[in-house]
Amino acid sequence: MKKIIAASKLSFSPGMTIPVGNAVYTIVKELGAGTFATVYLCTPHTTDSKVAIKVISKKHSREALNEHGCLQILGEHPNIVPFIAASKDSLFLVLGHFELTLSAKLKQPPFEDGMPTEMIHVISRSILKGLEYLSRKKVVHADIKPMNILLDPSNSSRICDFGSSVREGSVWDWNRTSHWFAAPETINPRIPRKYTSKLDIFSFASILFKTKTGHYPFVPKVDTDASQLETIQSKLSIDEANPNGNLTKLEQKYPKITENPNILRVLSLALVINPLDRASAEDLLAQAFYCAQPDPPKANE
Ligand SMILES: Nc1ncnc2c1ncn2[C@@H]1O[C@H](COP(=O)(O)OP(=O)(O)O)[C@@H](O)[C@H]1O
Ligand SMILES: [Mg+2]
Repeated sequence: MKKIIAASKLSFSPGMTIPVGNAVYTIVKELGAGTFATVYLCTPHTTDSKVAIKVISKKHSREALNEHGCLQILGEHPNIVPFIAASKDSLFLVLGHFELTLSAKLKQPPFEDGMPTEMIHVISRSILKGLEYLSRKKVVHADIKPMNILLDPSNSSRICDFGSSVREGSVWDWNRTSHWFAAPETINPRIPRKYTSKLDIFSFASILFKTKTGHYPFVPKVDTDASQLETIQSKLSIDEANPNGNLTKLEQKYPKITENPNILRVLSLALVINPLDRASAEDLLAQAFYCAQPDPPKANE
């Protein structure tokens, strides 16, 4: 007889079953793991379709409730992970399944040193569409990074992992964004902070930079807020005359970003220190890089 597991159990293996509401799912394999959870490929007992079940450890029940609530607010959108169901305690979240994350795609040999322009266009535009939708729903994701971007076979992105998400405008409590992707206002103790959707834009720009050059723009010497902030300030040449920074140093070190003026323009509008001066997702989608090559509209968009 197959073993039914409880939400409090931490180790799961293929063949075990997970009950969520009236449905029962069998674990096929592990898909990935993050700070709060492990995600499994599962099949429902009634059909041979596939789902992903995010199993969140009990000590992170606050994040689980947060993510569940957020997915309910967001509903369906072509660039947000589809939410199917949740257990009563929110520790099991049943989600639409995707084969690949952007993190895995960026490690594939042909893309390690940068992706072709058309691929960058499709991936980054679909992330921005998702961010534009989040901003309309007043949700700040606060942990945008390649591990939290799922890709479908046509490279259209779905933002996932809403465990750190927070309502736009809420008062700061802790730095939710991973170093390397963190916006400067999230790690600068001198700034009175509120969560705004502009925080996700800086993280987005770090990803766009990586897709073009094969490198992340702001890799700190050590994994601390202070080192991350220093790296951003140095790479963007911040000084009194230039408080919002510029891309000169990055252009010199990574000349690839100058190859396509339209991508460079998006980066220069998004990698801006002051969030009030930083472009929004809507502003960026209006730039030539996204307008000049529109992809066909999808139902629901
Ligand atoms: N719907 C999904 N389909 C396929 N893989 C997924 C899905 N959701 C998450 N994953 C994989 O599981 C990993 C961890 O999920 P995530 O929601 O980011 O958890 P955490 O909150 O612990 O970071 C992701 O980085 C990704 O590799
Ligand atoms: Mg994650």
